[in-house]
Amino acid sequence: MRNRRAVLAAIAGAASLALTLSACGQNSEGSSQSSSKGGTIGIAMPTQASERWITDGKSVVEDLKAKGYKTKLVYGEDDPKTQVSQIENLIKQGVDALIIAAIDNKSLNDVLQQAADADIPVISYDRLILGTKNVDYYVSFDNEMVGRLQARYIIDKLGLEDGKDGPFNIELFAGSPDDNNTKYFFNGAMALLQPYLDSKQLVVQSGQTALNQVTTLRWDGPTAQKRMTGILTKSYQSQKVDAVLSPYDGISIGILSALKSDGYGSGSKPLPVITGQDAELASVKSIIAGEQSQTVYKDLRHLAEVASNMADDLLKGRSPKVNDTMAYNNGAKAVPAYLLQPTSVDKTNYKDVLDDYYTAAELK
Ligand code: GAL
Repeated sequence: MRNRRAVLAAIAGAASLALTLSACGQNSEGSSQSSSKGGTIGIAMPTQASERWITDGKSVVEDLKAKGYKTKLVYGEDDPKTQVSQIENLIKQGVDALIIAAIDNKSLNDVLQQAADADIPVISYDRLILGTKNVDYYVSFDNEMVGRLQARYIIDKLGLEDGKDGPFNIELFAGSPDDNNTKYFFNGAMALLQPYLDSKQLVVQSGQTALNQVTTLRWDGPTAQKRMTGILTKSYQSQKVDAVLSPYDGISIGILSALKSDGYGSGSKPLPVITGQDAELASVKSIIAGEQSQTVYKDLRHLAEVASNMADDLLKGRSPKVNDTMAYNNGAKAVPAYLLQPTSVDKTNYKDVLDDYYTAAELK
């Protein structure tokens, strides 16, 4: 098929070579030169309701501009149909490449066929787009590790490995069922938590332990708050919650509201250990205030930089750097990926880890 597809096919063939090279310490990151010609890159982000995606959009735009590209940034405001029509419009406007963080990972097949027909390469950003071969590269974090870091924190804080048998009560929350990352976060966490559930050192009083019982549509905080309130009413009349596995800061804030309304965080009812993800400002402040316990920091500026380098490489006929060619199969193919490492953050290390992410004034 036309030129760019042929180039992409050749590049995909070279992906394993690139992987070998990167394993040997070669680094194509940051090697791209500014181009006055550039082109236009369409960036479709999921929502402005969460601070992280605003940072993502801004960072990708800045990086691409610095490389000489024009950008068109759109936000689908968590509505899959809106996102599809936004991407359709970007294709009609003749963008040269697309960087997409999907709202519903299965809703983009038709529109990505249109992109393929127009020879527009597609980079799946943070969330893997499923069920289509028309996604060329994936950039994200080690999503399973995110879940592991959350579970590890709970295990350490409850002292489960130090002979504290409990039993401790834990409730489980997961992300949006239409986001491919959700099962990676959840499975990563459960890989560490399951042995303690089996030994009954951890007990889920609500009985809700299956992924399809604990998801939170569109990662919505108020939805999580409602579920937590229901659980507290039903299952914790005479018990107290010791830990909550939360996959994302917006959900953690919702859960904290439910807990505080139920009297947690005062007197004899301390707040449980509660995890999170994204190091959003409200959650970092909550950690400093001793409410949320932990979050998982993912440097979005770095994610944006890798995505921008990938787009630049693709448009210049170079092979983007990848470090994983197996882990992320989208049902149509294994999508070559570059995965970054997440970091666990709590009250003890936030100053060091988030030093150049937030200013001291922002954290006040
Ligand atoms: C996921 C992402 C998380 C979090 C969540 C809600 O796809 O990997 O970091 O941002 O969406 O926005």
